[in-house]
Amino acid sequence: MIVSGSASQALAAALARELEEPLAAVEYDRFPDGELLAAAPGVADADPDRAVIVASTVSSDAHLEVLQLQDAVREAGVDEVVTVLPYMGYGRQDQAFEPGHPISARAMARAISTGADQVLTVDPHEEAVCEFFEPTATAVDAAGRLAEPLPDDLVDPVFLSPDAGAIDLAETVQAAYGTGETDYFEKVRHSGTEVEITPSDVDVADRDVVVVDDIIATGSTMSEAVGVLRQRSVGRVFITCVHPLLARNAVTKLSRAGVEAIYGTDTIERGVSTVSVAPALATYL
Ligand code: R5P
Repeated sequence: MIVSGSASQALAAALARELEEPLAAVEYDRFPDGELLAAAPGVADADPDRAVIVASTVSSDAHLEVLQLQDAVREAGVDEVVTVLPYMGYGRQDQAFEPGHPISARAMARAISTGADQVLTVDPHEEAVCEFFEPTATAVDAAGRLAEPLPDDLVDPVFLSPDAGAIDLAETVQAAYGTGETDYFEKVRHSGTEVEITPSDVDVADRDVVVVDDIIATGSTMSEAVGVLRQRSVGRVFITCVHPLLARNAVTKLSRAGVEAIYGTDTIERGVSTVSVAPALATYL
């Protein structure tokens, strides 16, 4: 039985269809003092052997919801709890960046592990975060699907990552598209919203470019990359990512930078989530 977190209701429904498993009735509520209550009354009624909780932890509340749903389905008597974190929040806080700082990804993983027999997550920023879970979480690769919404008529395309860390994703999308060159820029981050991009010497004049990253958060990385491309007489620029977090004014920032289209998956449910990771997840379930 599939159990959805409040931020992943469409993906949970898609996964239920993909697996031909029932979708549990769920309730999300809040007590007068602000405390959350996420419940799955449908699980107790159906009495399934397995519950698959699908919940992107896009906020601190969403983390709490996962813990509550895990507890609720155990209480309802399921034998196996699988927790799917399509987007793992706090995943980028995978180190103690300064003395006294927590490794937040590890803290979250430890808490979630207490209620799960198996954890899946999609394209984490660093695959090493999977080892923070007990047992180790499985990283599901959905990047190949990012080629699906791209137009068929890309002109001599370049698949570009805005930093070296995302070149594998750019290569995966290029391979799935079937033609084109790959390259990457160098990035230095000065603050949460300020990044500096140093371009490579790839020739982008009159060519269509697809910029690929794992996450678009504030849009600073992508808009800087698009700005550099625009100075080089690029053709059309498409941007695509696995996790379209799109915080604050990211969509406006990217639109003003002159992108042709933004694509993302449904690990985070946004208007640009044109690609579903449900088929990729289903192969592990
Ligand atoms: C960082 O290395 C990630 O791959 C992304 O580039 C980053 O999280 C994007 O963040 P923002 O959109 O805020 O620049």
